[in-house]
Amino acid sequence: MTDKNITSLTIRQPDDWHLHLRDGAMLKAVLPETARHFGRAIIMPNLVPPVVTAQQAVAYRDRIMAALPAGSDFQPLMTLYLTEGTDPADVAAAHAAGIATAVKLYPAGATTNSASGVRDFEKVRPVLDKMAEIGMPLCVHGEVTNSDIDIFDREAVFIDKVLKPLRKKVSDLKVVMEHVTTQDAVDYVRDNRKNLAATITTHHLIINRNHILAGGIKPHYYCLPVAKREIHRVALVQAAVSGDKRFFLGTDSAPHTDPNKLMACGCAGCFTATNTMSCLAEVFDAAGALPKLEDFTSLNGPQFYGLAPNDDTITLTKGAPVTYTTKIDTPDGPVTVFDPGFDLHWSVTVN
Ligand code: NCD
Ligand code: ZN
Repeated sequence: MTDKNITSLTIRQPDDWHLHLRDGAMLKAVLPETARHFGRAIIMPNLVPPVVTAQQAVAYRDRIMAALPAGSDFQPLMTLYLTEGTDPADVAAAHAAGIATAVKLYPAGATTNSASGVRDFEKVRPVLDKMAEIGMPLCVHGEVTNSDIDIFDREAVFIDKVLKPLRKKVSDLKVVMEHVTTQDAVDYVRDNRKNLAATITTHHLIINRNHILAGGIKPHYYCLPVAKREIHRVALVQAAVSGDKRFFLGTDSAPHTDPNKLMACGCAGCFTATNTMSCLAEVFDAAGALPKLEDFTSLNGPQFYGLAPNDDTITLTKGAPVTYTTKIDTPDGPVTVFDPGFDLHWSVTVN
């Protein structure tokens, strides 16, 4: 089913509620790819060393602003990396001063640069209590890290073993389950009306685990949480196109150079900043749900975060397949742009 009659769509400028920009030369190379179409983005703090304190967040924000293309109005929304040593007062002060929009929870060892993450959740309880009190959201990488739990089950087990108990203990805490990849996560979010939302990436709406593993291993499709079975991808598409306010876009665009992806132990991450809006238009078009695209990319996220939608608009126009850069050059090697595996017919104009 396709909205054949719709060939042009004007929506509020989108935001990206989960983005990796890195630092230095990589930051300079990838930032324009997001700033081209997006108004704001929640910036992940998993640098080496991580962005833990308000002071580090200010310095990182300054480096992002300095790397922006001239004339760009893009606004980075900073996050603090939660460690067992995080000071609740520093977090509260960063929030009050508009320095940090959210705090990011990585279970230790869950993904790229997460070694400083949380092992014992009781140790971060004072920070979580303070965040609940001041209404500051917690962005959660929802995977357990136990080596005895199958990697395809780690999100579902995290919901049962970590998230449910945590949300019971700190019930006023606003939680974003990030980059959800399973029907289980979609169901959990739908069943819980209060203080809970989820981001969905572009690539998880398009690939399932066959794309990574069938017919030869495809490192550019390997990311964490790893893509699951097709039934889960379909559940994610249904959630994204539903207009349900609790689901919004967080691309998790995560650049790694080709040498770091294409090795015996390659890095996790898909780089989707460049063609995300064209990919999403294709997904929503195929689902006959183009009128819901704006909710997913531009309205639901700001509403959860208590922010106004962007004033600017973009127009998506359907036509002949669009061309886009397939490699972003950096001094350490190219970053490969996500290949959705089909032509993209929707071009993007910022009005
Ligand atoms: C991210 C990265 O490279 O920083 N990788 C990924 O596969 N998504 C980390 C993350 O968000 O898990
Ligand atoms: Zn991420």
